[in-house]
Amino acid sequence: MIKVGIAGVGSIGITHLDVYAKRKDARVVAVADPILERREGRTVTAGNIRGQAQGGMDFRTFRKYADAYDLIADPEVELVDICLPTPHHAPLAMAALKAGKHVLVEKPFARTAKEADALARVADQAASFLMCAMCMRFWPGWDWLKQAIERKTFGKVLAAHFRRVASHPGRPFFLDGKACGGALLDLHVHDADFVHYCFGKPNAVFSRGYSKLTGAVDHVMTHYLYDDIPLVTAEGGWAMAPGFGFHMQYTVNFEHATAVYDLNTPEPLRLVRQGKSRPVKLRPGMGYAYEIAYFLQCIRQGRRPQTVTPADAAFSIALVEAEARSIRSGRPERL
Ligand SMILES: NC(=O)c1ccc[n+]([C@@H]2O[C@H](COP(=O)([O-])OP(=O)(O)OC[C@H]3O[C@@H](n4cnc5c(N)ncnc54)[C@H](O)[C@@H]3O)[C@@H](O)[C@H]2O)c1
Repeated sequence: MIKVGIAGVGSIGITHLDVYAKRKDARVVAVADPILERREGRTVTAGNIRGQAQGGMDFRTFRKYADAYDLIADPEVELVDICLPTPHHAPLAMAALKAGKHVLVEKPFARTAKEADALARVADQAASFLMCAMCMRFWPGWDWLKQAIERKTFGKVLAAHFRRVASHPGRPFFLDGKACGGALLDLHVHDADFVHYCFGKPNAVFSRGYSKLTGAVDHVMTHYLYDDIPLVTAEGGWAMAPGFGFHMQYTVNFEHATAVYDLNTPEPLRLVRQGKSRPVKLRPGMGYAYEIAYFLQCIRQGRRPQTVTPADAAFSIALVEAEARSIRSGRPERL
């Protein structure tokens, strides 16, 4: 039984709590949040995706801290799950590793690439394990795509387009571009990371984008330039009008089939092949459950996580920073 402390009981903290509550190999023993109602489980912040952040569990058995550093110091906590606003990710993860705890840290891995590299170096030397919660690597339908690309099930990829576009979530942290990094860092990092996961490091990125709400980039479109794949693009943004909702999609054109994913449809993944479009059966639920199950298994088995390494997580930050430079310069940015 792995004993877990959750730092930050907002939208993603509650989402992780939902997962731990259903597991037999982990137990939440402590939570930290400066807001009293949150650490007592009296409020639930909704997430982007239906089924996320259900809440409703009994908080009475949890030790409750206002300060996340006190949660790290709790001797019973073996795994610190960091669900705080982005600027806290790297400093808190560093402190938790130094205290000998395992660390699951929410994306984005860090606020800047410099911080991310420093954290990855510390994580590689630590006796305990760190994994960044890059949930798309575990998401039903996205894990399928990674496998289809790797195995060349439908031939080579000719074109891949990823799209994650929403209206703004509205909460104050996400309106402060300096703190959250705009949609470029907060939302689009999922797809930048997934492009890297599927196709490796691009030679260069060429991005266009604009700022509307946060002072940082709120809507981006990027071409990832590879020698062997003609067209790889990703669009990410939260600058759409209120009421637009949250859209998470991809279209990947293989030599012999086209895969189309749309979260907001009853059968999110369809495969179009030989004149027919058929749904692909997916494992149930969301990526959060699978990423947490995987990390707990790594801890139990004493195996360093491979599906997302600290270096992968750090590269995702370098990638979006290169995209920001490309937007500013108007030119492709080499990596
Ligand atoms: N993987 C995903 O799909 C996903 C989804 C949502 C959010 N996130 C990431 O998770 C992080 C948090 O986002 P959120 O939507 O849950 O935000 P949120 O505002 O809903 O929750 C953050 C919580 O952290 C608390 N907090 C702030 N400073 C703290 C501190 N020093 N110690 C303890 N608690 C503190 C706040 O009071 C709040 O309850 C962000 O970095 C975001 O990018 C990831």
